[in-house]
Amino acid sequence: MREKILNYLRSSNDNYISGQKISEQLGISRNAVWKHINILKEEGYKIESVSNRGYRLIESPDILSKAEIKRYLDTTIIGKEIIYFDTIDSTNNYAKKIASDIDSDGVVVVSEEQTLGRGRMNRLWTSPKYKGIWMSIILKPDFPTYKAPQITQVMAVAILKAFEKYGIDAKIKWPNDIVINKKKVCGILTEMSGEIEKLNYIIIGIGINVNLDISDFNEELIDKASSLKIEAKRNFDRAELIAEVMKQIERYYFKFLVDDLDEITEMLNSYSLLLNQEATINLNGKEYIGKVLNINRDGSLEVEIDGNVRKIISGEVSIRGLYKYID
Ligand code: BTN
Repeated sequence: MREKILNYLRSSNDNYISGQKISEQLGISRNAVWKHINILKEEGYKIESVSNRGYRLIESPDILSKAEIKRYLDTTIIGKEIIYFDTIDSTNNYAKKIASDIDSDGVVVVSEEQTLGRGRMNRLWTSPKYKGIWMSIILKPDFPTYKAPQITQVMAVAILKAFEKYGIDAKIKWPNDIVINKKKVCGILTEMSGEIEKLNYIIIGIGINVNLDISDFNEELIDKASSLKIEAKRNFDRAELIAEVMKQIERYYFKFLVDDLDEITEMLNSYSLLLNQEATINLNGKEYIGKVLNINRDGSLEVEIDGNVRKIISGEVSIRGLYKYID
């Protein structure tokens, strides 16, 4: 109901709209309208109320509520259902709890902050309030479990595409970090459940450092991580950006589902930080030095080690001596 009231206020384009009119249109009492307006004000909406004239929306808050995201959203499955938190331990943890009970594809869990945001390799993921995009997408594709890990790279391509719309020139560090000026601005944590035969669900956890300031990063991260705001020297509208990210995710997810991998593979190569670089590859605790030759259609990395070409499916790869955050 509140979303509908908001829509009325928005569609009235700077004009006042009377409580009477809203109550008639929505079939609720004027008192109920007044109560919803008060809750909207508590949520941060600046709404002017003038007796005999009505209500007028002056400003919307910078939040990632369903109503704010839906203003920009143009997808058919991703984000059709959005579960929104002001604070949570980790959106991936929450997504995991509910994933088995969900039938639809593309439910999104989003939170303004995470108190225990998780990164890969059990690292913590800094997730300060109202500054980033911390979200998890629950997917239930009908494909074999072995295909699931590759989806992380598909997501990386989609996020890069969304960034491109804002003129942000980012790169992908295989398999799934997004980097600007040698610093990480986005990470993806894919978790899944399934047996060899049957995939139950995939959870794609995406953390985008949007409007974080340098002071949001601790000593250890300061050389390795950055935000869109720091790099582009401006603030971003998080609701608009998350909607664009969802749109691109849907677009590339659909391609992935039908094995349409040409553009994805092309982008993974052309935007790769690692290509043609001498790299240190950490495989199951053993270190190798090699040259990165290609990112294959199946998402694996082709590397030349001691004159032999090897295919690497997962692991930590760092460019020797170049990128601090990877070393
Ligand atoms: C990485 O280590 O690069 C992956 C970082 C993933 C962070 C996101 S933020 C939303 C989701 N919830 C989590 O706890 N982690 C992921």
